[in-house]
Amino acid sequence: MTSHIRELPALALSAVSKSYGHNEGKVDALTAINLEIAHGEFVALCGPSGSGKSTLLNILSGIDQPSSGTVLFFGKMLNALHEKQLSAIRSQYLGFIFQFFNLIPVLSAFDNVCYPLLLNGRYQKNEANARAWDYLQRVGLAHLAQRKPGQLSGGQQQRVAIARALAHQPKLVVADEPTGNLDSATGEAIVDLLIKINQETGTTFVISTHSAQLKARAGRVVAIRDGRIDEA
Ligand SMILES: Nc1ncnc2c1ncn2[C@@H]1O[C@H](COP(=O)(O)OP(=O)(O)OP(=O)(O)O)[C@@H](O)[C@H]1O
Ligand SMILES: [Mg+2]
Repeated sequence: MTSHIRELPALALSAVSKSYGHNEGKVDALTAINLEIAHGEFVALCGPSGSGKSTLLNILSGIDQPSSGTVLFFGKMLNALHEKQLSAIRSQYLGFIFQFFNLIPVLSAFDNVCYPLLLNGRYQKNEANARAWDYLQRVGLAHLAQRKPGQLSGGQQQRVAIARALAHQPKLVVADEPTGNLDSATGEAIVDLLIKINQETGTTFVISTHSAQLKARAGRVVAIRDGRIDEA
């Protein structure tokens, strides 16, 4: 029934290591990471500050390159690709959500979602507009679409950022502490929204977090400590 391609994991990291700097200044941020994530999983990546969560998210999403090891990203071996090919894959397959939202302050909520779709190159203006409305509606913010980020609460800004991350229907959503800058009630509402999207669309989610709520509700928790997956 399921095709051969479908049986491949969404992501497969083999012996991934990452160091920053050289000589005395060298930091081993990740050491020999082996990790497989299936299509449609909702994974929480947990670990103390400095344990390597952001580094791992950047590598599994093709934003950064490992020092050694391989990353299979939806069937593509990222190591073999040039920056231009990587960038094309990211713009099609990846949605990224940041702790501090990273919205463009001079643009309205609507334009923050629509503008990346226009840059993406796969959408005509009409379709980009329709998608931006659709996704702002899904995150419950269509009524505030004309406001700029500075006129929105933290939770509302994160909803705009979620709409932006999803509007091109990526296969993978990576979020780096998406509730880290929100109070716990607002954070919980954001977690509800991410889980709902995961269940409705089958989009794969990998989310780094310090939040016990998010950990408790994830399909799987991957623990990282000192740059290694903690098997215990
Ligand atoms: N660009 C860089 N240059 C040098 N060292 C870095 C760089 N980025 C990260 N590091 C180091 O790599 C290690 C892992 O950092 P990383 O940002 O991945 O941790 P983290 O788990 O995301 O932490 P936090 O919870 O504070 O966000 C840390 O020791 C950090 O100081
Ligand atoms: Mg981090």
